[in-house]
Amino acid sequence: MRVTMIGAGYVGLVSGACFADFGHQVICIDKDAKKVAALNRGEIPIFEPGLDALVEANMQQGRLKFATDTTLVKDAEAVFIAVGTPSRRGDGHADLTYVYEAVREIAPLLSASAVVVTKSTVPVGTGDEIERILRELRKDAEIQAVSNPEFLREGAAIQDFKHPDRIVVGTEDPTARDVIAEIYRPLYLNTPPLLYVSRRTAELIKYAANAFLATKITFINEIADLCEQVGADVQEVSRGIGLDNRIGGKFLHAGPGFGGSCFPKDTSALLKTAQDYGVPLRIVETVSAVNEQRKRAMARKVVTALDGSVRGKTVAVLGLTFKPNTDDTRDSPAIPLITALHDLGALVRGYDPAGMEQAKPLLPAVTYCSSAYSAAEGAHAVVIATEWEQFRALDLQRLKSVMAEPVIVDLRNIYRHDEMRRANFRYRAIGRSGVG
Ligand SMILES: NC(=O)c1ccc[n+]([C@@H]2O[C@H](COP(=O)([O-])OP(=O)(O)OC[C@H]3O[C@@H](n4cnc5c(N)ncnc54)[C@H](O)[C@@H]3O)[C@@H](O)[C@H]2O)c1
Repeated sequence: MRVTMIGAGYVGLVSGACFADFGHQVICIDKDAKKVAALNRGEIPIFEPGLDALVEANMQQGRLKFATDTTLVKDAEAVFIAVGTPSRRGDGHADLTYVYEAVREIAPLLSASAVVVTKSTVPVGTGDEIERILRELRKDAEIQAVSNPEFLREGAAIQDFKHPDRIVVGTEDPTARDVIAEIYRPLYLNTPPLLYVSRRTAELIKYAANAFLATKITFINEIADLCEQVGADVQEVSRGIGLDNRIGGKFLHAGPGFGGSCFPKDTSALLKTAQDYGVPLRIVETVSAVNEQRKRAMARKVVTALDGSVRGKTVAVLGLTFKPNTDDTRDSPAIPLITALHDLGALVRGYDPAGMEQAKPLLPAVTYCSSAYSAAEGAHAVVIATEWEQFRALDLQRLKSVMAEPVIVDLRNIYRHDEMRRANFRYRAIGRSGVG
């Protein structure tokens, strides 16, 4: 099929490359001329495992193209909107400017039989407004507006896209359903369920899913705090509850609080929708508030590990992205942590395998280093903020030899107390009170 993606960011690029790999003819259109030029040179603007090879192979086969020219949308049978929906300044609702701009731009150009599919995460009712715009600008056609929210995770995006747990299709129009089914048909071998629902239901499924996952994380984070006080081990609690199929083991890793480009903004937008409809979502409100406080409060763990003050001391922060295998620093917990450390008078050295360029404008006062060991030079504490694979097997003796004091604050629970004790480190983790 002929598919166009509007927006070649994380979601547009991964989805476009995967659709091309399914055998469709895909054009990814993005306003950002630099991004498009880079993509046309074979340079991938984001760090996502496997994406470079997938893009290259499909470009070579002639199935995947990148352009800035919106008029190329004219031949598409399906147009996916994958532009950003960031938090709106001021009220925290989803900013739909890019979505509506994109729809207004493409509407006059679309073929009368095209289907417009929203992949961006958008509040309930956005599809209705998209349909209204399409009717207003295209009186000659009944172009369908479908919701097809995306559930991929950064860092595992291709695997998630090609092996989804479900594909949610929000439309009651049978022809539009057939178009979407045809686009995803190559996945039938993996038998992911296509879940046909109304457009509003599809829009809400995405927010409810993210709010639920954010709740799971926040729940275990609070249990971790309790573990520290009562002498229990949160990792064992997670395992003990996660083995119950009704609960499930995923998203039960205690840490510094959730971040990233989706959970914080999506919980915030869901709360706004709920307020608009006069239905307070108290659980989600609490999750959001608890998580916000938690990220900055992680600095207190470092202060405690350094005997009550970080003033004038050097802290090495390993990991600046919100999770491993991505270069995305949007709403990363490392940002409020480092800001708080600076506020408390610490000097911060930082290292991240992929996210340093993205972090620099957000954290200009950090001294950026070329490796974990160089970040640790002269440090009074090393803080592990992101669980990159390379931080799981640090040479502890080498690390200690360059540090001013042997202190590790492990916000991702990737080490054990006994190995740290053996290496003569003072070690603090999350929700594990093992004396160390
Ligand atoms: N990043 C994720 O892991 C993820 C997962 C699921 C859903 N989502 C949702 O998908 C949407 C996109 O997220 P993202 O992370 O890919 O965003 P992004 O910021 O990485 O990419 C958006 C792209 O859209 C382009 N753009 C904006 N307006 C345009 C227009 N009118 N025409 C052409 N291009 C335009 C921008 O230049 C940018 O390259 C958001 O709603 C997000 O919530 C993201």
